[in-house]
Amino acid sequence: MSDFEWDPETYLALMSEEIPDYPRLQTEVAAAAATGAPRSILDLGVGSGLTAQRVLEALPEAELLGIDASSEMLSAAESTLDPERTRLQLGRLEESLPKGPFDLVMSTLSVHHLDGPGKADLFARIAAVLDSGGRFVLGDLIVPADPADVVTPIDWVDDTPSSLEEQLTWFAEAELTTRVHWQHRDLAVVVAEKQR
Ligand SMILES: C[S@@+](CC[C@H](N)C(=O)[O-])C[C@H]1O[C@@H](n2cnc3c(N)ncnc32)[C@H](O)[C@@H]1O
Repeated sequence: MSDFEWDPETYLALMSEEIPDYPRLQTEVAAAAATGAPRSILDLGVGSGLTAQRVLEALPEAELLGIDASSEMLSAAESTLDPERTRLQLGRLEESLPKGPFDLVMSTLSVHHLDGPGKADLFARIAAVLDSGGRFVLGDLIVPADPADVVTPIDWVDDTPSSLEEQLTWFAEAELTTRVHWQHRDLAVVVAEKQR
């Protein structure tokens, strides 16, 4: 479990310092999310809503349910996101997910806080709440094949990223069909689709 305390006031500065490609990651998540015009979205680890905002801008018909373990980050998300199109809920990724079904589940820079078995378990639970033909868009830190590609400092306590290969195996176990939408150094965006 991650006990790191997120501070919405310093969040963007932290991202700029530790994940210089965060804006590009958001762009790629939004592009991958917008395909197929989903209308019901679940954002796991919505934080202060910065990536959810980009996705909602790209999908004017969509409504989003955002979940996060930090009440401070959720308060910031309340100011960022359109209340007409957003619901926010305090909760953990390790807990039962809302039933859905959702056209799109997304998560940006949150799943790497779970260990390997935690990620595999989450992917199976996501598959269960996706509508048939629905997609999970994961934008996150990975352990790159070449250690020279590590950009973001990892403490291996709160941050426990996995390789892309391991995660693709866990998606396959959850019976989701994957494609790597984008990868750059230690960041990747994966689209995992539930077959119709
Ligand atoms: C790096 S921020 C990403 C926020 C947002 N998705 C974005 O793109 O800016 C990580 C977020 O994940 C949340 N988080 C971390 N571990 C979590 C868990 N196990 N359950 C729910 N939320 C978690 C944190 O509270 C934080 O808001």
